[in-house]
Amino acid sequence: MTLPKFGLGTFRLQGDTVIHSVTNALDLGYRAIDTAQAYDNEEAIGIAIKNSGISSDSIYLTTKIWVDNLSKEKLIPSLKASLKKLNVDAVDLTLIHWPAPSSPVAVEEYMTALLEAKKLGLTKKIGVSNFNIDLLKRAIAVIGAENIETNQIELSPYLQNRRLVSFMKQQGINVTSYMTLAYGKALKDPIIQEIANHNQQTPAQVILAWALAKGYAVIPSSTKRENLASNLAAQGITLSDEQLMKIDQLDTNSREVNPEGLAPIWDPSI
Ligand SMILES: NC(=O)c1ccc[n+]([C@@H]2O[C@H](COP(=O)([O-])OP(=O)(O)OC[C@H]3O[C@@H](n4cnc5c(N)ncnc54)[C@H](OP(=O)(O)O)[C@@H]3O)[C@@H](O)[C@H]2O)c1
Repeated sequence: MTLPKFGLGTFRLQGDTVIHSVTNALDLGYRAIDTAQAYDNEEAIGIAIKNSGISSDSIYLTTKIWVDNLSKEKLIPSLKASLKKLNVDAVDLTLIHWPAPSSPVAVEEYMTALLEAKKLGLTKKIGVSNFNIDLLKRAIAVIGAENIETNQIELSPYLQNRRLVSFMKQQGINVTSYMTLAYGKALKDPIIQEIANHNQQTPAQVILAWALAKGYAVIPSSTKRENLASNLAAQGITLSDEQLMKIDQLDTNSREVNPEGLAPIWDPSI
């Protein structure tokens, strides 16, 4: 199964809020959901999927291993606990959420355990998140680039991660852009608004269409049905070369997410 280009993000959404968002999204046609052990919403997502009546086999589920569960003793049991919460026998994709350079567990140990989880059939594909080029090289040395489905990274018009993306392309690793909308900040950008007004699209659609045109997978989140619907429709939008170029020029290397102790030393964006 190939990595879906469009999915639903669920960071910060819990309880009834996430159930509402997932229920609406599935009803609108979303068939990929991104969660994580740390989001504390896997159980609620499992409930929303069950209530939707849609077979979980036709929904691409991604979860992420939290930093407390990176050791070879904990990784697989923690993934089994996630599967139980999500009410599935296997997920489609499991990512290492953060490389956590301050963790006592080495990249080599957790990538080996993650590959073992795949061999056991607990997850169809595996990958990483928030890895820089050096860490990706270490992960590749352990399990091979062919086993790394994606590196899920913050990537928005304001943080285009050109060096990292170029390395990933060389290695054949898919780019998943998180916070593509820069957590809503890029929606207010005058260039984005100008393009949106000109095309009679929403600013979110313009940004998502730009990321999709670059070949990145996107996982925007929303609590509102109308935003979920219009975001999904971005898949049908083609921006002109000139519009794409204008957005390419918005990179300011500004990052929304940089947790101390979890984040690596980032590669410069520009
Ligand atoms: N791997 C990681 O470390 C990591 C880190 C962060 C995020 N993620 C993943 O990436 C997903 C996306 O990131 P995110 O949710 O933080 O940020 P985001 O998708 O960039 O932005 C979400 C925000 O934008 C608003 N929004 C969405 N569509 C909109 C629209 N059409 N018009 C106006 N506002 C709109 C939402 O508000 P409304 O609810 O009001 O629509 C929400 O406040 C997360 O949910 C998570 O699954 C992964």
